[in-house]
Amino acid sequence: MGILETAGILAIICILARLGVFIYELLCPKLIDVKTLGQWALVTGSTDGIGKAYAHQLAKRGLNIVLISRTKERLEEVAKEIQNKYSNIQVKTIPIDFTKDSSIYGTIRKEIQGLDIGVLINNVGMSYEYPETFDKVENNEKFLTDMIRCNVDSVANLTQMVLPDMIKKHKGLIINVSSISGRRPTPLLSLYSGTKGFIDLFSRSLAAECVTRGVYVQSLCPGYVVSKLSGIRKASLIAPTPEQFVLSSLNRVTVPFTTGYWTHEIQEFIQALLPEFISNKLTMHVLGGVRAKALKKKNRAQ
Ligand SMILES: NC(=O)c1ccc[n+]([C@@H]2O[C@H](COP(=O)([O-])OP(=O)(O)OC[C@H]3O[C@@H](n4cnc5c(N)ncnc54)[C@H](OP(=O)(O)O)[C@@H]3O)[C@@H](O)[C@H]2O)c1
Repeated sequence: MGILETAGILAIICILARLGVFIYELLCPKLIDVKTLGQWALVTGSTDGIGKAYAHQLAKRGLNIVLISRTKERLEEVAKEIQNKYSNIQVKTIPIDFTKDSSIYGTIRKEIQGLDIGVLINNVGMSYEYPETFDKVENNEKFLTDMIRCNVDSVANLTQMVLPDMIKKHKGLIINVSSISGRRPTPLLSLYSGTKGFIDLFSRSLAAECVTRGVYVQSLCPGYVVSKLSGIRKASLIAPTPEQFVLSSLNRVTVPFTTGYWTHEIQEFIQALLPEFISNKLTMHVLGGVRAKALKKKNRAQ
């Protein structure tokens, strides 16, 4: 057999093996009762979208909730919503802006001292106003600092804060919300893609360190979900509501990597098979169209 034929057969075996794992994980999720992991769940970016849906679902499963977002009034609103629905659940709110300097972590540490945190959802994240090349993003310096603080520093710092206790107790779950854009280059969203790539590799590395120490760590890499951040308002097969998305992702918390939703799994599976230069060209084409529309709208408004 020639080198090309051998390489071809190996490639087919790899694709079939990935497909097998993908179908197995989709059909046979290993479910766990999150309430057995601790008394509290901490969710960042929890007043809207995916974070708010996690807060509701974890409260429904019997966990007390620490909510962290910027806006005090919205935090109080969500806390009330949860307590009206689940009267036996305690809710604590911490107004924090993750684009601020590292002193915010001292505040959070003080606020959560003594709480038995079994679940951490590192969900907070920011993206671009519209797709753009890195050199042309407005207010580039502030944008860069803000995004790295919000998307990267928050995940590493909060993980560092809760992980030692989880390891001591030999139980816990940390879900770090990355993105399908963190799995491969996403031109026109390069900084976002880079920050999400950090989350993906950090989480999967950590998952391997923690697997024998009782703590589940997950890199969660969604495709589109209806939300303010995505700008998608109508749910579809490709873009579920945050509630649909979180219900589905909570069935997969024990795997180190998932997109969280079945149509996103198919999207990620197909994208992973594409050569990078084709995937880059497609992304440039699609996001280039989104940029052109956004710029037109902006120019009209000025
Ligand atoms: N939606 C998608 O299609 C999609 C796809 C892939 C990955 N993701 C990831 O999923 C996560 C959640 O996104 P989402 O779509 O649910 O967003 P969203 O609906 O816009 O909600 C963002 C939440 O984060 C809070 N927040 C924003 N900036 C903050 C800051 N600087 N400090 C503290 N809190 C802040 C917001 O509340 P306040 O404004 O009150 O602070 C809000 O509660 C992000 O990490 C995102 O990258 C989303």
